[in-house]
Amino acid sequence: MKTKNKDFYRCPFDNSKLLLVDEEIKGSDVVQGKLVSENNNEYTINNGIPDFTWPKELSELDEHERKIYEELAKEYDKFASIPFNTFKSNEYDVRENIAERLNINENSKVLEIGCGDGRGAEHIAKRLGSSGEFYLQELSPSFMRNAIKRLAKYEDKIDLNFSIASAMHLSFPDNYFDAAHHFGGLSTFSDVERCLKEMVRVVRPGGKIVVGDESMGLWLRETEFGKIMMNSNPLLKYEIPFSDLPKEVRNVKVEWIMMGAYFVLEFEVGEGEPVANYHVPIPSKRGGNHWIRYYGNLEGVKDETKELAHKAIQKNGKSMHDWLDELVKQAALKELED
Ligand SMILES: C[S@@+](CC[C@H](N)C(=O)[O-])C[C@H]1O[C@@H](n2cnc3c(N)ncnc32)[C@H](O)[C@@H]1O
Repeated sequence: MKTKNKDFYRCPFDNSKLLLVDEEIKGSDVVQGKLVSENNNEYTINNGIPDFTWPKELSELDEHERKIYEELAKEYDKFASIPFNTFKSNEYDVRENIAERLNINENSKVLEIGCGDGRGAEHIAKRLGSSGEFYLQELSPSFMRNAIKRLAKYEDKIDLNFSIASAMHLSFPDNYFDAAHHFGGLSTFSDVERCLKEMVRVVRPGGKIVVGDESMGLWLRETEFGKIMMNSNPLLKYEIPFSDLPKEVRNVKVEWIMMGAYFVLEFEVGEGEPVANYHVPIPSKRGGNHWIRYYGNLEGVKDETKELAHKAIQKNGKSMHDWLDELVKQAALKELED
């Protein structure tokens, strides 16, 4: 961990600030030490890498994934190209296309979570300049070590920062990054809704998020192609997590890539939920506007009264809303006068 980051990271439990203690510093790096939160949660720094894994005891699913990836790390090269070869896709082109969607420039601050051995991160690193910042996060320490090795050639060119953490509990301050990315692990994360919420939290309004993973196109699932591929890799049965997206997302776009077996979902980060122009008048018989129709209901009337009301507005040419609003207001004011 760089010494400049001693006040940067946040507690993945409650986002509170952390205090660096028992530190051993070499040059501009904290090589050993601990970051302690206001609630006394401790995160160790070993060989320069802070470990923000939270909860300390991971859910069964996340622990299972961590073990799998710890074992896979030494021979990942054997497997990594299989999806690209199977789906007749060029890995370099796919990753370039994904990196392009992040809209980053040489000054951008970028986060990649679950970065694996850094093979996708290279496509981001090469877009950044000396004033850009790149934070890479990973759950498996062995994969993280591989990413550090792979990205060593960028060490002197850009500001690279590595940390161990779970995608569901990020250790970064709110609104810090211009862009955030993840590819390939989403379907196995224990809580995708929480992960996406965390990504949105740490990206500034107007920033970009791009995620992608397996998800056989729904229209392909009953084809021979779909059946053969989902039999080999059941993760392809995963469905794009639209309903897990937080309300802050804007301009959501999705594309199925790699012959329709993978998806890329991209969106911008907004503030709060969208707010429409609820007061646009609706020039129909019923009248009113969106707001009035949702919030303006008082109570129902009898069938006979309803029929008469419709006849009355036929005659007076007013919308039901205008007529009722006028009548009820007058009657209520009169009532209140007495
Ligand atoms: C299929 S690999 C993809 C790696 C990389 N993103 C890529 O595109 O090559 C999935 C990665 O997600 C990581 N991972 C799994 N569960 C995680 C979690 N809960 N938090 C962060 N990373 C996780 C794994 O350790 C693994 O490196």
